[in-house]
Amino acid sequence: MSPSLQSYLTAKRTVDDRALNRRVLGRCSDELAGIDEPARVVEFGFGVGTMIERLAEWGRLPERTSYRAIDRDPENVAVARERIPDRLEATDYRIVDEPDTGWENPREGARADTAGRRASGRSIDLTLEVADALSTEAIADRDTASEGDSRADAVIAAAFLDIVDLERALSTIATILEPGGLLYAPITFDGATGFAPPHPLDARIERLYHRHMDDIRDSGGSTAGRKLLSSLPENGFETLAAGGSDWIVRPRSADEGREYPAAERTFLEAILETIDEALVAYPGDVLDPADRRTWVSTRRRQLEESELSFVGHHVDVLARLENG
Ligand SMILES: C[S@@+](CC[C@H](N)C(=O)[O-])C[C@H]1O[C@@H](n2cnc3c(N)ncnc32)[C@H](O)[C@@H]1O
Repeated sequence: MSPSLQSYLTAKRTVDDRALNRRVLGRCSDELAGIDEPARVVEFGFGVGTMIERLAEWGRLPERTSYRAIDRDPENVAVARERIPDRLEATDYRIVDEPDTGWENPREGARADTAGRRASGRSIDLTLEVADALSTEAIADRDTASEGDSRADAVIAAAFLDIVDLERALSTIATILEPGGLLYAPITFDGATGFAPPHPLDARIERLYHRHMDDIRDSGGSTAGRKLLSSLPENGFETLAAGGSDWIVRPRSADEGREYPAAERTFLEAILETIDEALVAYPGDVLDPADRRTWVSTRRRQLEESELSFVGHHVDVLARLENG
């Protein structure tokens, strides 16, 4: 059975943890630390919430942060509501549990805990929303009475700008950011998908998989990372830092049992499924179905036997919206 989107996003956490460019992340947290608190952060396409967990666990958020997390997939939001309270337990936080935020588990004691921990000064006020992050109306249309206005000091868009209309996303982000606000866009795909050991069909499969991102999928593109670098100045942003953040997944050594770390076998199953689904879109005169089946079944067997390694190239970018 193929992994669900939520299992994939959960399994991706440790792969991203290794991949994230520490220089770009370090500059991002330095810039966030300079913002008047509470820093207002909005995350677009937050999936099951792994970025906020990571930033809290790694101490990369300002002492007081208001964090607005937006995803259009209600199932992602449901999983995030389940996992985030426990994951953030070790950090100092408060979940905003108004009725319409839908926390199933507002956890009696969360506020008491926070009150105690606030003696140490750290807090995250978190709201989760099911919405289209690219709709300016949806982004601006919120109850401002308790939350302040909908402007942000920083927008985070992780593994997001490569699957949406990049220009539209940058324009929406520029709309909600304060002048001088930050855009942190890590894990933006940039044109390389590779496997080891090599297979004679690799080059064709990679080319068609990327062509699917560019020409067949509704939005996004296979070279979004480098396009982002050129689109930022055109949309009023100055790039503060950029660096590579490659996904590299491989089985542990024979001494360590040749298993994949954490849930990364599930991550690779999902990657192979995504590629297979993309390749099915091609007619037989572009890709012989027998070639597709041969390549995919070989890669699945190698995964089953813990012989498969994978590399995916991404770019992490930190940019600042120029003042007016
Ligand atoms: C590749 S996933 C990345 C999720 C998360 N940022 C991470 O790195 O694990 C992209 C996410 O963007 C969400 N998404 C795609 N288009 C969206 C939109 N227009 N508005 C809000 N969320 C969107 C998807 O539901 C999905 O959760």
